[in-house]
Amino acid sequence: MIKKGLILAGGLGTRMSPLTKAVNKQLLPIYDKPLIYYPLSVLMLAGIKDVLIIVNKGQLSQFRKILSNGERFGIKIKFIEQNSPRGLPDAFILGEKFIGKDNIALILGDNFFYAQSLTKKLKECIKLSNGCKVLLHPVNFPELYGVATLNKNKKVISLKEKPKKSKSNLAVTGLYFFDNKVINYSKSLKPSKRKELEIIDLLNKYKKNNKLKAEFLGRGGAWLDTGSIDDFYNTSAFVSALENRQGLKIACLEEIAFNNKWIDKKKISESINFYGNCLYSKYLKKILNK
Ligand code: DAU
Repeated sequence: MIKKGLILAGGLGTRMSPLTKAVNKQLLPIYDKPLIYYPLSVLMLAGIKDVLIIVNKGQLSQFRKILSNGERFGIKIKFIEQNSPRGLPDAFILGEKFIGKDNIALILGDNFFYAQSLTKKLKECIKLSNGCKVLLHPVNFPELYGVATLNKNKKVISLKEKPKKSKSNLAVTGLYFFDNKVINYSKSLKPSKRKELEIIDLLNKYKKNNKLKAEFLGRGGAWLDTGSIDDFYNTSAFVSALENRQGLKIACLEEIAFNNKWIDKKKISESINFYGNCLYSKYLKKILNK
């Protein structure tokens, strides 16, 4: 059972400059809350209460200001700084002490998931005892992502990072579940041509040993990665449309924690004080009145 999660929330966000010159991308808004709330909500929905967030050197205090130590959400959040964006598998090298002898989930700080039965799917994924599991989803422009090709039995037969041409439209999303071997595998990786440790090289080590499993978000699900300014606006529009139509928030961390019975109404009141007079607090007040 996986009980710990990593969020990679560093990176330079160069494609979004000048927005990202002073503020980390993961703290910019997706509609009514900072982007980091969304990947954190996915870990919390999975039932993960022990989280390490990897941030850029010098940006720790920005993150602490909004997330603190996770107490508001009934979870434990620790932070570690990454000196430079050395690649996604660096998370397991930096996180070695945090991971210890356990298995681990990793979610990229700029990934957004919304799907029916997502919680059920996540709870299945964290049952992983050995090997690794990836979540695949179709995209229109596979050349922008890690891409998986499957055989007739839905078994992954090849994995490539940003292939120029691909027959497959199945992207490897930024949510991964690994056994403890991931630490040593990550340490054994060599930087690629773009001078980064590549997640696809790591996944290929599992695949070589027949230990890679693929799961699917399903056609009714949405997976968006918020790498560009347009992605930010499009994802914000998506969240705004759903939230305003349904009156239910996506990635309200206090609500998830309350439903998981990790916090009580007193803690929600404290959050309302913390946020002040805003729409997010108004939503939290509705939970108090339930
Ligand atoms: O979003 C899914 C895709 O994410 C996968 O399909 C690809 O296989 C995977 O390589 C990755 O591709 P990206 O090009 O989108 O990765 P990017 O460099 O944008 O980094 C993703 C997030 O991780 C971003 O929020 C910044 C953070 N990051 C990235 C690196 C390389 C770090 O915190 N540290 C790093 O060293």
